[in-house]
Amino acid sequence: MIQSAPEYAETAGSVKMLGLKLPTDPRWVNIAEKSLGEILIDHAFCEQKAASSGISLIVKYPEKEKLVAEVTPLVAEEWGHFRKVLKEMAKRGFQLSHKRRDDYVAELTNLKKKGGSRDAQLVEELLLCGMIEARSCERFRLLSLYCSDAELREFYHEFMVSEAGHYRMFLDLAKEYMPEDYVKSRWQEILDGEAKIIAGLEYRGDRVH
Ligand SMILES: [Fe+2]
Ligand SMILES: [Fe+2]
Repeated sequence: MIQSAPEYAETAGSVKMLGLKLPTDPRWVNIAEKSLGEILIDHAFCEQKAASSGISLIVKYPEKEKLVAEVTPLVAEEWGHFRKVLKEMAKRGFQLSHKRRDDYVAELTNLKKKGGSRDAQLVEELLLCGMIEARSCERFRLLSLYCSDAELREFYHEFMVSEAGHYRMFLDLAKEYMPEDYVKSRWQEILDGEAKIIAGLEYRGDRVH
């Protein structure tokens, strides 16, 4: 494992701000690097899913002006991420293949509270999107710090910065539709639930989460 560069010190602080209750063991990067083709395929599909769920939000809540205005460019950005991952794969001689099962997102979906107002339902979706962004950001940060390949470190650094911005955007959007106190306490519940999910999943070198 390489030493962390001083310029990353600031980003370490920003990851603490993500509020994650269970940090990932940095040794996960060593396993991930051993199956780089696999992790890149999984990453590509994470970006595709991020773009797809953005589109779904717009289709489900077209009357929410701010949501549509902010999620539309996010969809384009996530699709841009998908293209970037494909490009990196091609450069390294890897090819896209079938989508992998995503246990993390499947379990996270179970945290969604059913019922309540339309706005409360929207907030559930926004917070889960924010949660996936926050954990992805944390994993990309580790890859950006500890990959032995300098080009990959730079590659993942860009994703880390971008997903951190998305995490903030989803949380801020949630506060547009439900009172701040409600959003804050619901966010804490989701963080707790997510930590339990992460604790129950094995570290895999072929999965981003
Ligand atoms: Fe992304
Ligand atoms: Fe994102």
